[in-house]
Amino acid sequence: MSKAINQALQQEVDKRRTFAIISHPDAGKTTLTEKLLLFGGAIRLAGTVKARKASKHATSDWMEIEKQRGISVTSSVMQFDYMGHRINILDTPGHQDFSEDTYRTLTAADSAVMLIDVAKGVEAQTIKLFQVCAKRGIPIFTFINKLDREGRNPFELMEELEQVLGIRSVPMNWPIGTGRDLCGVYDRMKNQVELFQGNDHSTIKVQKVEDYNDSIIREMAGEYLHDQLCQDLELLDVAGDPFDMEKVLKGELTPVFFGSAINNFGVQTFLENFLQLAPKPQPRSSTAGVIEPSDEKFAGYVFKIQANMNPAHRDRIAFMRIVSGKFQRGMSVKHVRAGKDIKLSQPQQFLAQDRDIVEEAYPGDIIGLFDPGIFRIGDSLSQGSEVVFDELPTFSPEIFAKVTVKNALKHKQYQKGIDQLTEEGTIQVFRTVSFEDTILGVVGQLQFEVFEYRMKGEYGVDVQLQRMPYQFARWIIDKDIDASKFRINSTLVTDKKGNYVVLFENEYAMRTAMEKFPNAKFLDTAP
Ligand code: G4P
Repeated sequence: MSKAINQALQQEVDKRRTFAIISHPDAGKTTLTEKLLLFGGAIRLAGTVKARKASKHATSDWMEIEKQRGISVTSSVMQFDYMGHRINILDTPGHQDFSEDTYRTLTAADSAVMLIDVAKGVEAQTIKLFQVCAKRGIPIFTFINKLDREGRNPFELMEELEQVLGIRSVPMNWPIGTGRDLCGVYDRMKNQVELFQGNDHSTIKVQKVEDYNDSIIREMAGEYLHDQLCQDLELLDVAGDPFDMEKVLKGELTPVFFGSAINNFGVQTFLENFLQLAPKPQPRSSTAGVIEPSDEKFAGYVFKIQANMNPAHRDRIAFMRIVSGKFQRGMSVKHVRAGKDIKLSQPQQFLAQDRDIVEEAYPGDIIGLFDPGIFRIGDSLSQGSEVVFDELPTFSPEIFAKVTVKNALKHKQYQKGIDQLTEEGTIQVFRTVSFEDTILGVVGQLQFEVFEYRMKGEYGVDVQLQRMPYQFARWIIDKDIDASKFRINSTLVTDKKGNYVVLFENEYAMRTAMEKFPNAKFLDTAP
């Protein structure tokens, strides 16, 4: 490839930012996403994403379940341009009933935005999603939302980030007043104040100042709030962590921004800072060594498979993250696992569920490939040499049920259904060591309903699910494992690869087992 073409590829890589927003339900992810899309001109009207969230047009029948509950089970990808950047937001469902897909989607992101409700602080689902990001060591940017409401003290929230998540934080801006008293934020990096104006807080005045002691702030915010601001910032200057880009990139320090998504307050500043600080598409490791985005040969991997987007067919969409090279519609690539060349002729891009045909795409972009049943999670596609990317992690399920088929004559169909649905990666299947029982494990309860519904609809099999009391699965590496040792509040099973897994009813049982087998390794993802 000529130097000029390579330079063009590098430019495309440099302008891209691919990230996921992680949060607990109701923190304001839909609202923030919508505002970000509006900045990029990707949607005209605020409310579009929200409207789609509760859309009456289900993309498939089983998504009726999603509709009934008014939640989004499907992760989609949104792309927009802003200030010379091309931004890919990976949407992760925020509801309690999220799935392993949500975790896996995070492996396709180069950074994450952690959205926190100022009144609620760090919540359960945020912790889980954070941990997946932390394991990968990707940079995490924090947006503390709903500043227009009474909330917790910012110092307390910083403390919580450290205590609960184990990450140090560096506030990039700082609230001037909170709740009803909120009048704006002080930007510590740019030395400027951004003030709310008007009853609906919609007009924002930006004023450059000398530093936070500047009397201009006193005139604007009043004596009381200015004194408070000075006190807080003096403390931060002395006792807070300095901004350190290296630590941010390693995921050891999170830059914190305060704002209010619904009032569009602090969102633009956040976006601009984020684009400057967040990493461009990162390399991925493979059997052929580290694959750099600027490598000329196209390569990518499938991180998610979504079934039944079109109810008329049993088709699936495989979501691929492009790692290197330029993608062009119609190009031939090697499907490495299958050992076959395939033509990528119907690639799709996603904007809040609308499908568009993609002509070309670059590293960091996500495209959907029409999948007549040939892809599996983790499959690598590459041009020229055979590249196999590192296997995607299998995450520990948290809800378990014993599954049986009501009509024994349907056993073949039942097996086929289980095999295909596990391939899509939203349920995991385990067998008790005596091979008597099949146990399914999921991350969110809804997946069981989806499983039952699809087994009946697509395979004509009625299944019975019986909830089991387990909450944790740990892969255990110990050749001489004795199944009889796991009787109390736990059970030994094998996964589909034959690895030993212990299911525990509670943390106490898990701790006891760990103490009993100090030499065994208990892993929370499959080895
Ligand atoms: P999610 O996707 O994370 O679940 O949250 P979503 O954006 O749907 O927001 C949850 C609720 O929080 C919504 O209110 C939304 O309007 C509100 N919200 C989002 N950002 C802010 C903010 O900066 N300040 C305040 N005060 N509220 C905010 P809702 O009543 O559940 O829905 P709606 O009737 O407003 O649509």
